[in-house]
Amino acid sequence: MDLEIQPVSELKKRVEDESQLVFGKQFTDRMFVMQYDTGQGWHSARIQPYAPFTIDPAAMVLHYSQEIFEGLKAFRRPDGNVALFRPADNVKRFNLSARRMCMPEVDEQFFLAALLKLIRLESDWVPHSEGTSLYIRPTMIATEPMLGVRPADQYLCYIILCPVGTYYKGGIAPVKIWISDHYVRASEGGTGEAKTGGNYAASLYAAREASLKGYDQVLWLDAKEKKYVEEVGSMNMFFLYDGKLVTSPLKGTVLDGITRRSVITLARELGIEIEERALTVDEVLEGAMNGRLQEAFGTGTAVVISPVGEFCYKERCVRLGDGKPGELTMKLYNSLTGIQYGRQPDPHNWVTLL
Ligand code: COI
Repeated sequence: MDLEIQPVSELKKRVEDESQLVFGKQFTDRMFVMQYDTGQGWHSARIQPYAPFTIDPAAMVLHYSQEIFEGLKAFRRPDGNVALFRPADNVKRFNLSARRMCMPEVDEQFFLAALLKLIRLESDWVPHSEGTSLYIRPTMIATEPMLGVRPADQYLCYIILCPVGTYYKGGIAPVKIWISDHYVRASEGGTGEAKTGGNYAASLYAAREASLKGYDQVLWLDAKEKKYVEEVGSMNMFFLYDGKLVTSPLKGTVLDGITRRSVITLARELGIEIEERALTVDEVLEGAMNGRLQEAFGTGTAVVISPVGEFCYKERCVRLGDGKPGELTMKLYNSLTGIQYGRQPDPHNWVTLL
């Protein structure tokens, strides 16, 4: 398939002060778009000016949420060059999500090449300051106008870009997490491991409650027994427990995070044993009290590595650490971001230079 490059006649005004960048608010001048029709496959691939779509009110995504997305980042390096972090892994996961949601897969090589071309054209938008990056959002939606419940026959796939600062306002300051004893995010056999909008829509009610109580995020328990901690929606969770790094196993309810995978590799290199096992909410609360739980942090493309300073479950709240990120959390943060921003070698070939 050819990739058409359309001219951009009007450039947007940018946020000049990079400290004012808000996550996901400002978008660049161009976007990638391609269309799919059953029988024809993917077609009309183009990089065009960023613009709203015209969409039929009956488009199936608007009714039945047949939608998937990805999140990855491009980083400005000290020599001015730009690097993407594990982009091929995101494209692979995009296709896994597509399969789960009965959507057409993309050609991985073509999609990755189109993504790189888009970033090259928009490379001026990659911010320069510490902790900033260009967030990349590949998305696919079902556009066929039809109210029957079945997989659509028409889709739109696009990639948009936004320059971002840190995901949480406080940067790497520890966040406060509310553990939900009532609402659940995903159950076994459900869509928890797919990156699909419905999972996030399902999380909003509890997230609003948590926010009203002064918490930053919700930590979800397993749907069956409401006993085991799983993930935080926008991040996978890690617990430094009895000197080992514990994280939920991948059994269909949590996202196979690319930052999660990277952190597992980096922690092993530091000699830390990894346990992929279900940790109970009691272990978290008791562990924070008796010192067995030394550190906890979340991982994700948007959040990078985000330390947790407090957990609250029902009426019980426990604090972790002294208000600063833990030692292992910081070590992992520094080595991950060191590789991403090109301050450290990249022994695993995670980085793709433009
Ligand atoms: C990401 O980390 O890229 C995500 O997709 C989380 C998001 C919902 C902000």
